[in-house]
Amino acid sequence: MSTAKKSYQRVTTNSLIQMKKDGEKIAMLTSYDFTFAGLVDAAGIDVILVGDSASNVIAGHETTLPITLDQMIYHAGSVVRGASRALVVVDLPFGTYQADSREALKSAIRIMKESGAHAVKLEGGHQEKQSIERIIQAGIPVMGHLGLTPQSIYKFGTYTVRAKEEAEARQLLEDAKMLEEVGCFGLVLEKIPASLAKQVADSISIPVIGIGAGNDVDGQVLVLHDMLGMSKEFSPRFLRRYADLHTSVMDAVADYTADVKSGDFPNEKEQY
Ligand code: KIV
Repeated sequence: MSTAKKSYQRVTTNSLIQMKKDGEKIAMLTSYDFTFAGLVDAAGIDVILVGDSASNVIAGHETTLPITLDQMIYHAGSVVRGASRALVVVDLPFGTYQADSREALKSAIRIMKESGAHAVKLEGGHQEKQSIERIIQAGIPVMGHLGLTPQSIYKFGTYTVRAKEEAEARQLLEDAKMLEEVGCFGLVLEKIPASLAKQVADSISIPVIGIGAGNDVDGQVLVLHDMLGMSKEFSPRFLRRYADLHTSVMDAVADYTADVKSGDFPNEKEQY
């Protein structure tokens, strides 16, 4: 059963801003393919993020850095074909926007044109101001991402909580205000203290979506494979598992293998 206050034919960036005004929390999940996007969309999610976490959960890389623009466009196109209600936001992958604002715009245009997605997300604050402005001027909605920005993992050296120190917290708050000012429609805050996330959400009018940022923000995002319990290994404190697909898949595949080996599958009704 959906708990949405209003029903939207298609969630837009404006609907998200309205949800914040109405005090309706925004539910966001990642997806990377047509089948899961269709399920996630039909179940009532507001925003689907085609995250560069595809680099980890789909391609098996250790970080998000290796995934390419072509690969992101492939995933995004598949998700767009599966989703009829949710707003589809696509991550600009590492190396496709940091060099200059011209390259950033070109990358964002490729995503929009070739995948049919509705918006892009990129990591960083003041360093990316020019690129964000240029993309927005071209008519492409942009979502920001501050806090633990995984594309900078080699600068951070660790995936632990960011902005615990005052200087970093102050900079994050300034960056969030700048992102609102230049016209971002929303902001992801990853792995920062809940009190700071609340301060950010209270200070800006655009929706703040948290992951490991507490409950006093305007919505939540999780990586789909994590919340479905596809893996037992990744267990950060902020993760709540809503299913145990690891066990379900292991059991189903083991049962199938046993049935094939014993000659039990297929039976007479399962043949022509
Ligand atoms: O790539 C991703 O999945 C993300 C979320 C963790 C916010 O950026």
